[in-house]
Amino acid sequence: MKPRPSPVVIRPTEPRDAAGIIGLCRVVYPESLPWSDAQLASHLEVFPEGQLVAVTEPNERVVGMAASLIVCWDEYDPAATWRSFTGAGTFRNHDPMGRTLYGAEVMVHPEMQRRRIGRRLYAARRGIAQRSGLLRIRAGARLRGYHRHADRLGPEEYVLNILHGRLKDPTLSFQLREGFQVFGVVQGYLGRDPESLGYAALIEWLNPEVARPEDSAARDPRWDATPGVF
Ligand SMILES: CC(C)(COP(=O)(O)OP(=O)(O)OC[C@H]1O[C@@H](n2cnc3c(N)ncnc32)[C@H](O)[C@@H]1OP(=O)(O)O)[C@@H](O)C(=O)NCCC(=O)NCCS
Repeated sequence: MKPRPSPVVIRPTEPRDAAGIIGLCRVVYPESLPWSDAQLASHLEVFPEGQLVAVTEPNERVVGMAASLIVCWDEYDPAATWRSFTGAGTFRNHDPMGRTLYGAEVMVHPEMQRRRIGRRLYAARRGIAQRSGLLRIRAGARLRGYHRHADRLGPEEYVLNILHGRLKDPTLSFQLREGFQVFGVVQGYLGRDPESLGYAALIEWLNPEVARPEDSAARDPRWDATPGVF
């Protein structure tokens, strides 16, 4: 009989998770530098409530993580880079007076993907926004599948194809499924990302307990997904 997979729990990140998170980064993004010990310690110092890990039980292997900070959105150019929104990865720009939870990172170990761990991390992230009475979550969704289509589609056309269910993107399709809406496409978001070629979709989720109709990002109607495709 096949052994049953270990149960996975989502819990707040603790200092002892650093090595596991760094190991996870190396597997998920082998081409990039992982989070550093100093960055991870800084996240826990400035906003411990915003940091989550998914760990197997009982051995506590880190198989997923989600890192967030709060920002005053109006202080940023919406086309700013990931580096700028995250204080060069330190979250030192975290501002508890802000109303936007910024999703800086989410990742699940490749061997554990498609088991609803990402969905549970996002549910926990929405919980952070709701407990803090924040208006919304925003993030840049790096267009991970874009490099496969870049020879024939511009980044905006690629996003429209995903919104209308004609293509799937490993990151954006997941985020749309989680109730996020696209409100723009930016270039140069992540400088040296060979998969997205630096392009990201700006995405937002509004906290239904707080948001009023006028709080939706002023959206070009072409970003509205066709109802029922997800
Ligand atoms: C994006 C990521 C976090 C999703 O985590 P996950 O645990 O695999 O996602 P879930 O199992 O919770 O998926 C929930 C739903 O999202 C959608 N989804 C998830 N991965 C998908 C993919 N590769 N392609 C299309 N849709 C996908 C599906 O609708 C899925 O439901 P289903 O399996 O019933 O069809 C994970 O793929 C990952 O770590 N990717 C690499 C890092 C990354 O790109 N992070 C985002 C940075 S912006």
